[in-house]
Amino acid sequence: MKVAIGADHGGFHLKEAIKPVLDELGIEYEDFGTHSEESVDYPDISAPVAQAVAAGTFDRGILICGTGIGIGIAANKVPGIRAALCHDTFSAHASREHNNANILTMGERVIGPGLASDIVKIWLTTDFEGGRHERRIAKISALEETK
Ligand code: RB5
Repeated sequence: MKVAIGADHGGFHLKEAIKPVLDELGIEYEDFGTHSEESVDYPDISAPVAQAVAAGTFDRGILICGTGIGIGIAANKVPGIRAALCHDTFSAHASREHNNANILTMGERVIGPGLASDIVKIWLTTDFEGGRHERRIAKISALEETK
């Protein structure tokens, strides 16, 4: 599995804390920035990560900002992206099993690195259940055709 990871300045420190977790899991990743606390606009990080995941260059994405909200809203504008904001382990499970989320978003100003690490581990190791959820995902994809 290849993961694209990115953050704005509000999520920079949490991104840095998550990278060793990916190393520990033996997961290959590319860091799309940002690389410092200097202010950047979260859509500028979100778009390349979301486009790379949608194109299939990466299997999954992890995006972090202050809240996880803005960076996820931007990612969900890219067709084929199902970005899920998860700040608890139950949601991390469900976003994979039910929603086949391909991008995880989190907020550095909301949760600490310990919980974020558990969320990442669960999210990256939980499979989509398929079945009835397949039909629902197809209905989400169909919405992209109505734009
Ligand atoms: C940046 O200050 C902050 O607005 C951003 O990181 C994020 O929380 C937006 O949703």
